[in-house]
Amino acid sequence: MPGFELIGSGHYVPGPPITNAALARVMDTSDEWIYQRSGIRQRHFAPEGVGASDMGVEAAKRALENANLEAKDVDYIVFATMTPDYIFPGSAALLGAKLGIPGVPALDIRQQCAAMLFGLQIIDGLVQSGAAKTILFVGAEAHAGFMPWTAWDVLMGESDRELTQEERDKANEHRALAVLFGDGAGALIFRATERDAGLRGMKLYSDGRFAELLYVPGGGFRTRPYWKEHHYGEQAYVPRMDGRELFRFAVTKLPRAAKDLLKEKDLTGDGVDVFIAHQANLRINEYIRDHLKVPREKMPMNIDRFGNTSAGTIPILVDELHRAGTLKKGQLNMMLALGAGVHWGCALVRW
Ligand SMILES: CC(C)(COP(=O)(O)OP(=O)(O)OC[C@H]1O[C@@H](n2cnc3c(N)ncnc32)[C@H](O)[C@@H]1OP(=O)(O)O)[C@@H](O)C(=O)NCCC(=O)NCCS
Repeated sequence: MPGFELIGSGHYVPGPPITNAALARVMDTSDEWIYQRSGIRQRHFAPEGVGASDMGVEAAKRALENANLEAKDVDYIVFATMTPDYIFPGSAALLGAKLGIPGVPALDIRQQCAAMLFGLQIIDGLVQSGAAKTILFVGAEAHAGFMPWTAWDVLMGESDRELTQEERDKANEHRALAVLFGDGAGALIFRATERDAGLRGMKLYSDGRFAELLYVPGGGFRTRPYWKEHHYGEQAYVPRMDGRELFRFAVTKLPRAAKDLLKEKDLTGDGVDVFIAHQANLRINEYIRDHLKVPREKMPMNIDRFGNTSAGTIPILVDELHRAGTLKKGQLNMMLALGAGVHWGCALVRW
């Protein structure tokens, strides 16, 4: 049975880093509040006109170069985003076209921050069935489009005009959410292999009863038309998040899933080389790390520089670790993630 191996990776983040201090220009927040609660120091935002597929293309080009491949060598695309270029169609086919490989099957998945786990299962199925040999997985997000401020010029330091009280109030209403997310894309190229590599186990869960812990209330085809005029004034394009409940969800479900998977495989945390966790909040990951008794150096973090880039997060982190030589052939690595849906779980991957 063929497995799969990572043969190339790349990532792309748009524009200059936006510090916590820059966010404080458009709402009442501070570096201290944000860093203490989330571990985030900065993030990037996609400029107007740049979509998830555009950032995905940049990341994919870097991954192809890293793999020493051309785009035409890819025979399947899996694209994960919760912020697609259009409400429909999805961005996967756009990415293929922009990469110059129209015709290659391109699958959109929308498992938000948990996308990489579902992606691994899809990649495993594609190589095992013989449907594909060289698969491009891209996670990319353009969260800028749902941010609760309009004063981008002030945020970017291009203007020092005073914000109106209404502008400030609107941003403040969603400040607990807005400080957490950033934009960017990660691209990973997986190839079928006869080597002992690929998916070695998984615990994967979805529970739609908790969809409203993090969701966008406006838009959607349960209303006619699917976008109402009053949605704009109500900022219904901004996701609503029950941060406390999601935090609780993550720190109970993720350690449980990891323990169950390790037990099933007759392993302890010592048997895992690197823990690659989604970066939603440093405190969530520290909790998981302590609970599983994982030494600090075995769970690398990069949330301080990017914030939560949702589907982009694990691919970006994997790219950094791959290029740094942290991920080595033969290692057994665990990925852990939880995302809106709610979807969550963990996977063991033989590298
Ligand atoms: C969002 C999160 C950081 C909020 O932390 P918290 O300790 O629960 O904070 P609360 O929302 O209860 O707010 C505490 C106070 O800080 C204030 N506050 C909220 N956001 C703020 C900000 N950006 N800056 C300054 N103050 C802020 C609140 O208004 C509140 O003030 P009050 O006590 O005067 O009412 C935290 O809940 C979290 O990280 N949750 C997980 C979210 C997540 O991972 N989402 C993605 C899942 S894929």
